Amino acid sequence: MKKISETIFVCNNCGNEFSKWSGQCGFCKEWNSLKEIKNYELRITNKGKNSKREKVEVKKLSEIKEEYNTNQNIFSTQISEFDRVLGKGIVRGSVVLFAGEPGIGKSTLLTQLVGKVGGLYVAGEESAEQINLRVRRLGLNAERFDVLETNSVEEIGQILERTNNVYKIVVVDSIQTMLVESTITGTGSLGSFGSVNQIRESTFRLIELAKKTGVAIFVVGHVTKEGDIAGPKLLEHMVDTVLYFEGEKNGDLRILRVSKNRFGPTDEVGIFQMSDVGLSDVRNFNLSGSGEAKIGSAITIVMEGTRPMMVEIQALVTESFAPMPTRVFSGIDTNRGRLLVAVAQKVLNMPMYKHDVYVSVTGGIRLDDTGCDIAILAAMYSSYKEKELKNKIVLIGEVSLLGEVKKVRGWEKREKEAKAMGRTVPIIYSIRELKNLV
Ligand code: TYD
Ligand code: MG
Repeated sequence: MKKISETIFVCNNCGNEFSKWSGQCGFCKEWNSLKEIKNYELRITNKGKNSKREKVEVKKLSEIKEEYNTNQNIFSTQISEFDRVLGKGIVRGSVVLFAGEPGIGKSTLLTQLVGKVGGLYVAGEESAEQINLRVRRLGLNAERFDVLETNSVEEIGQILERTNNVYKIVVVDSIQTMLVESTITGTGSLGSFGSVNQIRESTFRLIELAKKTGVAIFVVGHVTKEGDIAGPKLLEHMVDTVLYFEGEKNGDLRILRVSKNRFGPTDEVGIFQMSDVGLSDVRNFNLSGSGEAKIGSAITIVMEGTRPMMVEIQALVTESFAPMPTRVFSGIDTNRGRLLVAVAQKVLNMPMYKHDVYVSVTGGIRLDDTGCDIAILAAMYSSYKEKELKNKIVLIGEVSLLGEVKKVRGWEKREKEAKAMGRTVPIIYSIRELKNLV
């Protein structure tokens, strides 16, 4: 393998590479997102000009044995929500990027995974003692739980080669604390921890290791709100599977999403609840409280992946004494919120220009589903009128600019979930009908 050192430009947003700088990424069209990376090593499989080329061969698909995706190459995480997100389970020899904000619970869930399946935990951030404490506190099996304290990818390689397939999984926590030693001792330094080059190079080596040994490697990546260049975005196209662990830190709900999966679907989510004994599977998460109607509250059913979930939306609409009324939306898109306020003013004649509006979603989840529009409006209307909505109803529907209410994707599933929860879904065609529901 020949290496050519050169300078490349990598997009902060989508991770694509370019040989020239430009103000806008040619792929994802983001502005000012290209960052320069010096001495990036280009890998070329064929030897240099003068050496003899290996014989090039075409492969016949009919002669290739199905290596992955056969059941013996997939094993369960023994955590049902985790399996659900991965498709069937963990694929041998695959590399999974496990990304999320610091403190969200990545180390907790992956500690639980190693505790259940057995494997090696590579601690780049914490000490073996800290991990031991966590394992004990979570009541996990410490028998098949090994810890390697290191920041060196070469040492991980040594262990995997020496132990020869005793591990089914290896967790590397985190990629930002790993480096490839040979690249910092020789000439042409690739930079220190957390630099783009180290993150890339380390990931590259880990992928090679996974393919060679058949061990499945989970790579932890911290994401920051600013989405800096050393973030996991850069690695997305290298790994087989990309998982994002999300949630509101002061809430207890966590959602595991899959944004790329070479071995399964990408529309599933896993739902977990954080407690002092770690993360537990939540099959039917109900965020709607006891269910008694309250002023300023509306219940809706949101689709998380292919699964319906009941949530409560709360709104507070109060007279404003400021020249510009306040608009605070948490858990819903601000533009969507503003649009609904405008529709309320125009169609329901609510004098929103002189009212402050606060909207929040319980459980700290983020709604990205227009099916919740009507419930948001209903909560605002209820608060404005100071009357509760009718008892035991669930509001589902997208609101148009003219105040019409439309059916949304997953309607049958949502309706079924509402029935299962002992509620009905009134069919309404215009937000004017909200008047009949208070
Ligand atoms: P952690 O898994 O360390 O987050 P990450 O690896 O993503 O940075 O978890 C961070 C928080 O979770 C920490 O503030 C403590 C809390 N926590 C619990 O609430 N319950 C638990 O059982 C554990 C282990 C952690
Ligand atoms: Mg951690």
